[in-house]
Amino acid sequence: MSKSHSVWVSRPLFPEVLAHLAQYVDLHAETVERKHTAAELREKLADVDGAIIGLSDRIDGEVVAGNRRLRVVSNLAVGYNNFDVPALTAAGILATNTPDVLNETTADYAWALLLAAARRVSSSERWLRAGNWRGNMRFDDWLGVDVHGKTMGILGMGRIGQAIARRAYGFGMPVLYHNRSRLPEAIERECRATWVEKPELLRRADHLMLVLPYNAQNHHAIGAAELALMKPTAVLVNIARGGIVDDAALAVALGEGRLAAAGLDVFEGEPSVHPALRELDNAVLSPHIASASADTRRAMAQLAADNLLAALGHGPDAGHPPSLLNPQVKGRA
Ligand code: 8YV
Repeated sequence: MSKSHSVWVSRPLFPEVLAHLAQYVDLHAETVERKHTAAELREKLADVDGAIIGLSDRIDGEVVAGNRRLRVVSNLAVGYNNFDVPALTAAGILATNTPDVLNETTADYAWALLLAAARRVSSSERWLRAGNWRGNMRFDDWLGVDVHGKTMGILGMGRIGQAIARRAYGFGMPVLYHNRSRLPEAIERECRATWVEKPELLRRADHLMLVLPYNAQNHHAIGAAELALMKPTAVLVNIARGGIVDDAALAVALGEGRLAAAGLDVFEGEPSVHPALRELDNAVLSPHIASASADTRRAMAQLAADNLLAALGHGPDAGHPPSLLNPQVKGRA
């Protein structure tokens, strides 16, 4: 079969997903993991019909300016703050992401961070590995804060937030949430969750999960003022995006004991991590891996491939990418 479309994949992907793509398109896949500059992205995208893009590559108006060939950019993530969607729409380029397939895995991980931070799993392991467990341990050593029976707070109640909320029932935790708009009653009932204003959420939550998309309005949604409203026994979990939390302010609050602990998977300016956070024993830190189970990363890659192929008119969904962010462009594809 002659392959009429050319596709660039900006980061190494599972071989079986690349093999699937290669059945339909002429493939140029990167084999080394790295962030591309705007100039490199312009060049890479100049001669292809579609691209699968990793989170660290920013696709904006400047990168696609004057590009007459590119028809689709398929993000390898559900969050798409690395795409300027209005600019892509204006340029007539389809944009897609990978929703839903990661909801449950990411919710599991949010709970893992909450439990690890509340019960001091990482810091006690570091202490043990360093050979410090010699004599009898004091009865009041390594005291954490409880999770079960406490009030769960969720800021950002999209599909991942809802998956986190559903798990709270098993821990006997009432759920409070804040979202710009209230969820339909049926979903609130299913999640056993109650909408409250943001300051009330911060004051009443025993533990707080952040699951907001990153955008200009949500920059530092949790800063010094918000942290000051939280309970000193609270654990804060950020699995959303760096920049939603003011990391410097968080480090101060954690250092001064104004917050019990934090579980952080995302950071401002990652892969750099604020040096003060790295020093704190009551911060559990991980390198943006909330969606990283073998099944889920495969499902995300497959969905990114399906979106791309459908946008280029191939495969069972031809013409109808399953997760299109700018349907207004559809007619031009
Ligand atoms: C990344 C994520 O895709 O989906 C998102 O929005 O942040 C993650 O699942 C993952 O870290 C790969 O870069």
